Amino acid sequence: MNTLIHRPRRLRRTASLRALVRETQLRPDDLIYPLFVCGGEGVRREIRSMPGVFNLSIDELVREAEATKKEGINTLIVFGIPASKDEVGSGAYAAEGVVQQAIRAIRHEVGDIVIIADTCLCEYTSHGHCGLIENNDVANDPSLDLIAKTAVSQAQAGADIIAPSGMMDGMVQAIRTALDEAGFSDTPILSYAIKYASAYYGPFRDAADSTPQFGDRRSYQMDSANIREAVREADLDVEQGADMLMVKPALPYLDIIKVARERYNLPIAAYQVSGEYAQIKAAGQLGWIDEQRVMMESLIAIKRAGADMILTYFAREALKHL
Ligand code: PBG
Ligand code: ZN
Repeated sequence: MNTLIHRPRRLRRTASLRALVRETQLRPDDLIYPLFVCGGEGVRREIRSMPGVFNLSIDELVREAEATKKEGINTLIVFGIPASKDEVGSGAYAAEGVVQQAIRAIRHEVGDIVIIADTCLCEYTSHGHCGLIENNDVANDPSLDLIAKTAVSQAQAGADIIAPSGMMDGMVQAIRTALDEAGFSDTPILSYAIKYASAYYGPFRDAADSTPQFGDRRSYQMDSANIREAVREADLDVEQGADMLMVKPALPYLDIIKVARERYNLPIAAYQVSGEYAQIKAAGQLGWIDEQRVMMESLIAIKRAGADMILTYFAREALKHL
């Protein structure tokens, strides 16, 4: 006879018991699906380092958005791959830019779906940096005008949410002012408030052809060693009027997600970035891990840490398990 009183295993005995006491749930509404739009027609080009993710021309993008919506995902984030780039990233804020056209097409064809616009210059600048270059460095304040212009052009095209990702100081305030002046005081800002200078962005830069042509992004994205600085960044964005905050990347920064969740009464988003996706895909393809299970475990971990929503290339695949 055994006198152990505490036996946690009692609640793990069957699948239904485990479901009854499960503390964290992943819902379809938590998932945000990133899409890459390029020029042309009938283009569906798989990204080498991101199996299952494509550069899509607008016609293909609309089809993808429709299918995604039908499956039960309600939110997309759109990234643009312009036909040509220049020093000042003019494709980012062109009324007929690739993202502006894409947003209009999705709005027109798919209707009720939340469209987030990633607001940055790096996909559109010939040098690949997130702002204007002056004296071999990214100039903060001169970049703000262009970032604000980009946000307004995206709102005019029909974006529901503006998501600035460039880590320029004051970007949220500049965008809030410009949106309000243009009559978009009801358009929310999801700030990439806490964005680290991360090697996990590698595959995305393949996809968007946005690798910096000189130097790196360490003078504006955050040092991965820092946590107090993350709080400072988020405090500033809240002060400037951010409606939601993002932490990026996700899995290597669960501690940061947790701090953000505890400190702010705003929705917290986490971005499971391209390198996180690529790692799981690659090990899965090698047969070294069970890709589907690792995918779900990674997403539940991000939610458990405190994310309300997750931007993930796995969105559609994960949906099949919910
Ligand atoms: C840049 C931007 C990046 C990502 C989205 N927008 C990172 C970067 O190149 O610095 C990364 C997303 C991913 O890796 O999935 N504004
Ligand atoms: Zn950028």
